[in-house]
Amino acid sequence: MDQEIKVLIAGCGGMSGAWLKAAESENLTVTGLVDIKRENAEKRAREHDLGRDVVFDELDAALHETKPDVVFDCTVPEAHHEITMKALDAGCHVLGEKPLADSMQRAREMVEKAEQTGKLYAVMQNRRYLPTAPAMTEFISSGVIGEVTTVNVDFYIGAHFKGFRTRMQHPLLLDMAIHTFDQARQFTGADPLSVYCKAFNPKGSWYEGKASAMCIFEMSDDIVFNYRGSWCSEGYNTPWAGSWRIVGTKGTAKWDEGKPHAEVVEGEYKGMRSEVKEVESGAQPLEITGHTACVKEFIQCLREGGTPQTICSDNIKSLSMVFGAIESDKKGKPVGI
Ligand SMILES: NC(=O)c1ccc[n+]([C@@H]2O[C@H](COP(=O)([O-])OP(=O)(O)OC[C@H]3O[C@@H](n4cnc5c(N)ncnc54)[C@H](O)[C@@H]3O)[C@@H](O)[C@H]2O)c1
Repeated sequence: MDQEIKVLIAGCGGMSGAWLKAAESENLTVTGLVDIKRENAEKRAREHDLGRDVVFDELDAALHETKPDVVFDCTVPEAHHEITMKALDAGCHVLGEKPLADSMQRAREMVEKAEQTGKLYAVMQNRRYLPTAPAMTEFISSGVIGEVTTVNVDFYIGAHFKGFRTRMQHPLLLDMAIHTFDQARQFTGADPLSVYCKAFNPKGSWYEGKASAMCIFEMSDDIVFNYRGSWCSEGYNTPWAGSWRIVGTKGTAKWDEGKPHAEVVEGEYKGMRSEVKEVESGAQPLEITGHTACVKEFIQCLREGGTPQTICSDNIKSLSMVFGAIESDKKGKPVGI
């Protein structure tokens, strides 16, 4: 029988429901729920029949009294540093919500702390576990479109949020684009080298900060990655993971969260254009997906050894794309990453 794993969940707002569900499906023992708004922790405790003893409004007390093996950090981005540093110092492993941190300096400190303590610290990048995302990675790495040269993604969603996003300086780049940037690394295996970004807040936006952005990344392996996105675009919304076109030396693959498919060159070209044929990925979609799959992989690594694909030392490269884009926008010119 698997050894019991005790979990403390920090931050009991909107996302914590998905984490509690994942904890239940992995048979983890939730020994604590902590939130600076105690009523949020109490609500989750009631919903999941956990009793009042698990509820805390202060992290130190929760760590001391419940002695968890793992902390799930579902707090707002500004709190990730404090929660993770304290949890690692208390000898816990941490799986935290994206983005890893709200600055590169803080992110580096968190990665260093994980190395010093020898504890696992990974980040929730649930888009990596969309049903057909691994199939897309496999499709691209199979060489079906040849060598990748260009990645284009459009993300256009008119999201009428309430809460922290409406007040962020860069709600799109910091809160959402991290998913797409990370997924570009998942699909291509390439890492970022430089970025030019123009972020802006379009007319009619209901955000205080810059809710739209265009970014051009130079990636390793001579790949150019173009990202166009908006949180305040009404009509013709794209899928949450965006609408993807990946161009290679032998064809073009597309992905809209469904089955990956491509048009690839067939034989010699006649006249102006090549003859192409349509090919589809034959890979089966994941059965366990999203938050549950990411939690599952993390717990499996704890139980059996191994490194989660969203380990902080790798995930910080995706975060560096976010902060590189923000710096480029501020300077009005391309910056190295
Ligand atoms: N992976 C995804 O698909 C996805 C989707 C939405 C949000 N998120 C991320 O999840 C995180 C939480 O987002 P949300 O929508 O649940 O936000 P939310 O505001 O609904 O909930 C955050 C909770 O954290 C609590 N909190 C804040 N500081 C705290 C602290 N120091 N200690 C304890 N509790 C604290 C707040 O009181 C609140 O209850 C963010 O990092 C966000 O970017 C991820």
